[in-house]
Amino acid sequence: MGGIKAVILVGGPSKGTRFRPLSLDDVPKLLFPIAGRPMIYHHIEACSKVKGITEVILLGFFPENQLAAFIDATSKELNVPIRYINEVKVLGTAGGLSRYRDQILSGSPDYVFILHSDICCSFPMQSLLEFHIKHGKTCTIMGMTVEKKEYANQYGCLIRDESTNELLHYAEKPETFVSDCINCGVYCITPAFFDTMAKTSNELQLSMQNVSLEYPEILKKGVEQGRLRLEQDIFVPLAGSGSIVVYPYTGFWRQIKNAGSPVYCQELYLNHYAKTKPEALSKGENITGNVIIHPSATVDPTSKIGPNVYIGPNVKIGKGVRVLNSIILDETEVKDRACILYSIIGWRSEIGFWARIEGIPNYTPFLYSQDKRKGITIFGAGAQANGEIIVSNCIVMPHKQLDRNYNNEIIL
Ligand code: GTP
Repeated sequence: MGGIKAVILVGGPSKGTRFRPLSLDDVPKLLFPIAGRPMIYHHIEACSKVKGITEVILLGFFPENQLAAFIDATSKELNVPIRYINEVKVLGTAGGLSRYRDQILSGSPDYVFILHSDICCSFPMQSLLEFHIKHGKTCTIMGMTVEKKEYANQYGCLIRDESTNELLHYAEKPETFVSDCINCGVYCITPAFFDTMAKTSNELQLSMQNVSLEYPEILKKGVEQGRLRLEQDIFVPLAGSGSIVVYPYTGFWRQIKNAGSPVYCQELYLNHYAKTKPEALSKGENITGNVIIHPSATVDPTSKIGPNVYIGPNVKIGKGVRVLNSIILDETEVKDRACILYSIIGWRSEIGFWARIEGIPNYTPFLYSQDKRKGITIFGAGAQANGEIIVSNCIVMPHKQLDRNYNNEIIL
């Protein structure tokens, strides 16, 4: 049959802990809206545009019922078959690929994309595919040069041959600087790479049996349980073997790790939309910059919205409200004169008259900011802020009612 398939590694609930309190509600992390669409919609949309795509597979360990409605609606909207493969237990970034190899390769695709779910970028899938076909090796890793060298060791670092782009060395979050080219978590492989992965995994298991003392117990246990990591267990030993090539990506890219990340990622997507599909952005006299307002939301014309704002379904925004760099989720009510800056307001929350809810932006791409005085303010679902209070750089657990000012706190 041929064609192309895409596998999105979606992980599961235990991987969403840094996303609290937003992942405490019914919506799993991978369906959290970024630029008005569930996080992995952007991946699927990009894959659906590739000529010859036959199926998108979501591989992870979320309960199936949490994804069913999204899969059904997105499959119809983008006109691409989407299937969920439930790993049942945590198998690691390569373990599930190996275990469900036959299902992934059913229909004999010519090429397979593999994508991490917790990233945002322009997903240049067609260009990645053409690059992969041209060099003819079995695996392509999308890599990009980080803006500052000191950011690199937070990621998988790629050392490549400058003229051929062949991967020479791979280091996952190295302690010292090895390269400013990082793994973006987007790959294109030829089915033969599944054999290479199986061979590499067998060699890893054998070496663990033979030289047992060299491997920590925890790693051995992981391998015994079928857990296999694409980065450390496959790319590290294969680097330099001639089978992996790095695709040099120069667009925007960011990881979606903690609950504040959607605000920064949304800005990148909305800027991208302004260039690629401006019709997706809302227009109006009270809107500045790139904004998406759901058609069912009611926004008073005396409010000022944007840039970088998403206002979800059935949200009510009162008179004179100011919203900037924020995400306001379904059925929330923001009363007159309130101000929301650098914040995520969870589903069905309520922000009182003249309340000021603000985060303090921190644009460093590090996974955890060391600076506790900076961050996006987050309201879990159903939280309430009384009128005339200031909540600054706080994380508010679901259903809390705030009746005084708070600053730099986690409100439990
Ligand atoms: P951390 O900084 O430790 O989170 O590492 P990382 O950024 O390299 O991410 P990680 O390897 O944990 O995950 C990369 C992608 O694979 C994410 O989209 C995860 O949801 C997904 N993932 C991680 N572990 C598994 C797994 O066991 N099974 C599946 N199917 N997906 C996984």
